Amino acid sequence: FKVPTAVNEPILSYAPGSPERVRLEKKLKELKKTTIEIPLIIGGKEVQTGNLERCHIPHDHHHDLGVFHQAGEKEIDMAVKAAAEAWKKWSEMPWEDRAAIFKRMAVLLSGPYRELLNAATMLGQSKSVFQAEIDSACELIDFFNFNADYMCQIYKDQPPYNTKETWNRLEYRALEGFIFAVTPFNFTSIAGNLPTSPALMGNTVLWKPASSAVYSAYFLMKLFKEAGLPDGVINFIPGKGSVVGRLVMENENLAGIHFTGSTAVFQSMWKTVGNNIANYKTYPRIVGETGGKDFIFAHASADPDELITAMVRGAFEYQGQKCSAASRAYIPESLWNTIKDKYVETVKSIPMGDPTDLKNFMGAVIDEAAFKNITKYIDLARESREAEFVTGGNYDDFKGWFIEPTTILTTNPKFITMEEEIFGPVITLYIYKDDAYEETLKLCDETSPYALTGAVFGKDRFAIRQAEKLLRHAAGNFYINDKPTGAVVGQQPFGGSRASGTNDKAGSPMNLMRWVSMRAIKENF
Ligand code: SER
Repeated sequence: FKVPTAVNEPILSYAPGSPERVRLEKKLKELKKTTIEIPLIIGGKEVQTGNLERCHIPHDHHHDLGVFHQAGEKEIDMAVKAAAEAWKKWSEMPWEDRAAIFKRMAVLLSGPYRELLNAATMLGQSKSVFQAEIDSACELIDFFNFNADYMCQIYKDQPPYNTKETWNRLEYRALEGFIFAVTPFNFTSIAGNLPTSPALMGNTVLWKPASSAVYSAYFLMKLFKEAGLPDGVINFIPGKGSVVGRLVMENENLAGIHFTGSTAVFQSMWKTVGNNIANYKTYPRIVGETGGKDFIFAHASADPDELITAMVRGAFEYQGQKCSAASRAYIPESLWNTIKDKYVETVKSIPMGDPTDLKNFMGAVIDEAAFKNITKYIDLARESREAEFVTGGNYDDFKGWFIEPTTILTTNPKFITMEEEIFGPVITLYIYKDDAYEETLKLCDETSPYALTGAVFGKDRFAIRQAEKLLRHAAGNFYINDKPTGAVVGQQPFGGSRASGTNDKAGSPMNLMRWVSMRAIKENF
């Protein structure tokens, strides 16, 4: 068997007058003028709890898109039962049928749902049109298509060694129990991938989307239904992490966690699972992608314009709210002198504002908590004698949570903003002496606990080789002469190690293998 070959979804331009732009603008208008009430969806049924939370617009936070109901103990109990009921048939369903459902999702998203999900992501998560298009359209479509392909490879490529008298087979079974998918606000594609990859492999799922992105998640949930996913395979249970997380993880049927979010939350999940380890039917699989302190490292031979583009796009696209965002850069003195003016001029020209005005490159940060956290770091830099602002440093939360694209220059390579994840539009630069390349590479490796993405720039091949070697464990996704963001499904499987996660590469057969338990069967003739 072979499922239809996956190819990456082309990025649409949304140029003025293009049909996709007309459709998108219509959808934006429609969504802006309606408010919706989002229920939980358990076993295919809508459930209201009356415990409501707002869906706000980050760049216009006095304006709501609607409200959503939050799950409590009773609903989690219902969701666990619905998942167990659905499991009986779903885990037995032939993989070709499961592949067909996810392939259909890709087709629906590529067509009628594309502008709806893009509009929801732009409004609810303050993404520019390009950032929405590469996320909620292209990357998500790619996840559906490529994962179906990878599943096909897994089921097909399994010839264990046989002898004349024995026939050995491997069976890929769904995990016994349910998978808990906990998804972040910053990528609608990740919100779609985390519940669907275990489901594709025959599991049933309890899905808790980030409270700040329930809006787009709800439209996705409707897409699953439309594509023919049976009721109860994915159960939608938004709510407070502290309530939902604890109750779900204490359940004896927890068979796995698929998580993207903060390092602190991920570590607390391991502790909860550890404390309950004797109660589970099976050892839960824990797969997580967490924080980053991603670097750009330039050698003196780097192309100045390529470096400027990578710094600006890597640090400020989607307001720096990507776990892969460039948030520290090491630049040799000679090169910094060459690029400084042009870099400053480029950053100052970035249009920021309401992303539904399609000319804007940056929107607002996601919510008040993020705004306070990011501006805390900016204030620390303002007060420090070891730091100065090269760009930005101002912020304003009157209408939306807006923070200027900020560049900090520090004389201390271990300054707090070089070490800690900020998750906002802030990059810190450390300028090194041209002849200190090797020792600065070592410094880069040991400065932060994370190891998600990183990029090296240079034309000198020996310098690149040295960076690859000395930064071998500093990044799970390593770029040469490109920005450290924007991994493409099927081309650069994504994930990091150290404090950045379990590195079970999203969009790879390895990730899907975490959601099956093998049975080895031996038959004697
Ligand atoms: N996969 C995204 C990127 O590479 C981050 O989650 O930017």
